[in-house]
Amino acid sequence: MHRFALKIFGCQMNVYDGERIAAELFARGWSEAAEEEADAVIYVTCSIRDKAEQKVKSELGRHVPKGGGRGPVVAVAGCMAQRIGPELLARFPQIRVLCGPRHLGRLADAVEEALADGTPSVLLDEDSRALDDLDRPPARRLLPFKSYVTIAHGCDNFCTYCIVPHVRGRFQSRRPEAIAAEVESLVADGVVEVTLLGQNVNSYGTDLKDVTFAGLLRSLAGVRGLRRLRFATNHPKDLTDDVISAMADLPVVCPAINLPLQAGSDRILALMNRGYDRRTYASRLEALREALPEVAVTSDLIVAFPGEREDDFALSLEALRLFRFDQVHSAAYSPRPGTAAAAFKERIPRAEARRRLQAVNDLQLQIAREINATLVGRTFEVLVDGPAHRGDGLLQGRTVTDKVVLFPGEGLEGRFVDVVIDGADAWSLRGKAVDGGAGGR
Ligand code: SAH
Ligand code: SF4
Ligand code: F3S
Repeated sequence: MHRFALKIFGCQMNVYDGERIAAELFARGWSEAAEEEADAVIYVTCSIRDKAEQKVKSELGRHVPKGGGRGPVVAVAGCMAQRIGPELLARFPQIRVLCGPRHLGRLADAVEEALADGTPSVLLDEDSRALDDLDRPPARRLLPFKSYVTIAHGCDNFCTYCIVPHVRGRFQSRRPEAIAAEVESLVADGVVEVTLLGQNVNSYGTDLKDVTFAGLLRSLAGVRGLRRLRFATNHPKDLTDDVISAMADLPVVCPAINLPLQAGSDRILALMNRGYDRRTYASRLEALREALPEVAVTSDLIVAFPGEREDDFALSLEALRLFRFDQVHSAAYSPRPGTAAAAFKERIPRAEARRRLQAVNDLQLQIAREINATLVGRTFEVLVDGPAHRGDGLLQGRTVTDKVVLFPGEGLEGRFVDVVIDGADAWSLRGKAVDGGAGGR
């Protein structure tokens, strides 16, 4: 029996892709093994920032076969394969398979061919609309009771800093029947929480005739046995009232949303080609919070975008104070070759970018701490993930708003438990199970 090792980098879409690759190989009789024992090592890679790519390159360097042995079949799939596959091949000759994110349906055949007779395969897009998807639900999941489901491929927004439209190709919605069938099969397999994925889920259906994202939420909410439905990520310019009402009307749709702001200055938002200004963003956020008073909102922010002046940056800090997000994924701008912004002149020096990032993180830490402190004394339903990483006999779970909750107990993985909160910091809540933990459902 052949054995594979899977190394996943990057966003949730890659986690989903990796889990489907594993499902496909299992179906062909493969098993999973440690990297040292594997016949094939498959990388699912990310190109979003330079750092993400450096990590994979340094790992690939380790697969040079020693002592004349052949070494495992090395396959590089995902966004980096699409962006710089041929360059990787030249530098790391042990790579046998390159597979872009839209050709995962052909990856397993390619790996088996390479293993049988060394045949190399290059499965990359010539045409950014081509799609050979892997039609298999993720059978092996990080947690058996939670799953991702991609609802749309690619992105057509071309924000000027972003590599995604260049590597994931054109926007394309999956058929609603295929999504519903996958969600149903996952629920039948014990999944209680599904997160729908797309670079911009709000655009779902704009390329189909008969369905919108809100409509998809409404139909999936009817799947019996599904307890929590989430989605990521959203584009503020496309967050419609219809989606907001669906969230408010449907109890299984979690009151949690990632609404990336990226910058607080209208001048920078325009240079980023984001398609909204700060006022529009503020009004979408207000509509959301009005319809769902308990909603948790997370956001993404880029500091030191080319030409970001001190006054622009001050507006990003001001926006954080004003919008009070539950969490912010912040990053310093990283130029991506081939994107529009890579040609912008006024680069911000590295030390200054670091200072801005630190200022954002310090401020956000304080805001998150304040928000979480207001939750002490409340009781929340928590879906238990398992033992907390830091041990101490603590369990870790998530509220509907996706906040981490730590509480004493054992077992209960995949169960719903009511927890009364008695402490909080910026990253997590602490508490005790109501009824001493016996109340798991
Ligand atoms: N589709 C989502 C974002 C996907 S990429 C959206 O429209 O918001 C995830 C995050 O990575 C982005 O929100 C952005 O904050 C960050 N990011 C993307 N490209 C980047 C770059 N070149 N440098 C730094 N951060 C970047
Ligand atoms: Fe990138 Fe913009 Fe598309 Fe998000 S919407 S994936 S940031 S191009
Ligand atoms: Fe990275 Fe590709 Fe996701 S670039 S963030 S893995 S879409």
